[in-house]
Order: sequence, then structure tokens, then C-alpha cells
Amino acid sequence: MLYYMPTKLYYGKNIIFEHKNEMILGEKAIIVTGRNSAKITGALDDVISILKEFKIPFIHYNEIGENPTYDMVIKGRNIAIENECDFVIAIGGGSPMDAGKAIAVLTANPELNPDDLFDMNNYDVALPIVTIPTTSGTGSEVTEYSVLTKPDGKKSGFKSNLIFPDVSYLDPKYMIKMNKELTITTAVDALSHAVEGVLSKKSTIISDMLAKESISLIYKYLPKTLNDLENLKYREKLAIASALAGMVIAQTGTILPHSLGYRITIHKGIRHGQATAVFLPFVAKEVDKVSPEKTQILKDIFGSLDEFHLFLKNLGIYDFKINFNAEELELFTKDVLNSSHITNTPGKYDKDKIIEFYNNLTK
Ligand SMILES: [Fe+2]
Repeated sequence: MLYYMPTKLYYGKNIIFEHKNEMILGEKAIIVTGRNSAKITGALDDVISILKEFKIPFIHYNEIGENPTYDMVIKGRNIAIENECDFVIAIGGGSPMDAGKAIAVLTANPELNPDDLFDMNNYDVALPIVTIPTTSGTGSEVTEYSVLTKPDGKKSGFKSNLIFPDVSYLDPKYMIKMNKELTITTAVDALSHAVEGVLSKKSTIISDMLAKESISLIYKYLPKTLNDLENLKYREKLAIASALAGMVIAQTGTILPHSLGYRITIHKGIRHGQATAVFLPFVAKEVDKVSPEKTQILKDIFGSLDEFHLFLKNLGIYDFKINFNAEELELFTKDVLNSSHITNTPGKYDKDKIIEFYNNLTK
């Protein structure tokens, strides 16, 4: 067994200023962000003030949208090469962090195109990476994964130990600006990581310990946070829960709910965390049939699998109207059955079962 998570993770309020010298991992930075959140949260200004203090020049690339595409990372790579940037600082939710990781590999290996990222044998070097999350869900600040959207519209993750961030700063003060909806969808993404880690065939005693704490924190503090969005103590608990859940999937990977969810994110516009978490109770019940010991952590925390389902329902994550035509179900089912996620999900999953999962959402 192996537990491997080489990222130096600093956490706590104003932590970035206490360890600011560790952010300087090169001579010129490319700061990778989305359009607004890095600025609104104050994280961007903090980073820029530190870079200025150390007289480190930087380029700010702020065009990463939700579900980052090949075009976005190619543009980032071109900017980094033109400006001779030698390290990446990614600020934001999962999308800027995942894009920053891709840019770190593509800049260090200019001959590669994004398709080449999916075979880790194609490269053995990446620029150093700093991440600063402004949401608490993805866990990308402590994982070796980056999820991109391919030109054919499919979401797919690549994996390499080279893209574990070198240094991450987890500060709850950057998270208090999240509204209710974003707080829920990101928290249930973290919950999905922890729950999928527990259910996964690849779970270990260490990943289960991390997952158990992560799930307990979300169960206890997500409802409290929703009633008190700017409470720093609650935000810190959710930030830790998200990082713990990231450490879980850094060991186990994600399983079936993520694969099921990718299709409704891309084709139905449902945000990633919500699109994934809606499937957790259905998959947990299937796992329970063959490996009841794997669902025990959920039963211990929530009382039963039905109460776990009820917890998610009460968050409102099923409150959408969605329909699938036969052609969509055919396409989604084919993609899900071919995805690597199914290999590590205990239970039997055929075409009818996958269609049943999707149809559960239309009731
Ligand atoms: Fe996720």
C-alpha cells in the first residue's frame, strides 16, 4: 500500500503571507484565473502584492471558463512561452487550477498537444505549480488530476505525479464570497470525492480515515454554512473537508457518479458537483448489495443510506427539471460503460442499470 501526496499544503487565515517566500518558485509567473473570482475574493491582489514585494514579474491570464477546453490551455501555454514564464500560480475553483496544471505541462513540453497529456509517458517535466483555491469542492490543490473538456465535448481527466501542486494555500477568507448555490454545488463535489473514495475498490485504511472525517465535516458544517455564509470558522471546516476529499481521490480516483455526472454537465448544463452528487445514493445502494462493509461509513454518519439520500434532497440538488431522449441515453450509456470509472466501482452495471440511474432524475 502507498499513501502519496507530495503537495505542501498551508492552511488557515492569511496563511499566504506567513509563507509568502514559498510561492516564489521561479523568475517569472503566469497567473492563471477565471474572469472574476480570483479578483473578487481578494486572492489575486494578495498574490500580486507578494510577487511585487519579491520583484517577480508576472503575466495574468484570466480566460479560464467553467469546464476548461483545449483552446483555453493552448492559449495559456502560448502566453507562458512567449513571456518566458517558468512557474504557474493558479487561483480559483477547479477550472483554473486544472487548466494551470495543463499549462504547466504544455509549457515545459512545447511539442505536445493537449491529447498527449492523457498518456503520462509522453512527458517527464512540468513547470512548478502553486494553487490557491477560492472554492471548497474540487480538491485540485492536493491532487495529481486535471479535468479538461475535449473538442468532441467529452470531459476527461489526465493524471500525473508531475501535476501535484508544489505548494497550495488554503485560506477560508477567499471562500466567504461564495453564494448559497455555489457553496452547495462545490461542497457536494467534495462529498462525492469522499463518498466515492469510500465505495471505490481502491479504498485503503488511510483513504477511508480521510474520507470519514471529510464526510462528517460536510454533514455537520454545510447546513450551518448555508445559514451563515460569511462565517469563517464554518468556511474553514468545509475547506478542510474539501482538501481531505482531494487527498482521498489522489489515492483512489473517482468512480461511477463522476462518470455519470460528466454527461449531464456537458449536455444539460448541470454544474459538476451537483451533476455528480445526485447519483451518489443510487450507486451507494448498488455497492451495498455486494460490499455492505463499504457503505458502513455512510450508515454510521447519516443513519442509513435513505437518510444520506434525504440529506442530499434537503440541499435541493434534485430540484431541476431534466429529460433525456432515447438517443441521449444511448450515447451517455455507451460513454459511461466505456469509462475507466466503472472498473473501480463494486457491483454490476449494464446498459439497463445506467439508464435506470439517469431515469431516476426525471421522476
Ligand atoms: Fe469532482
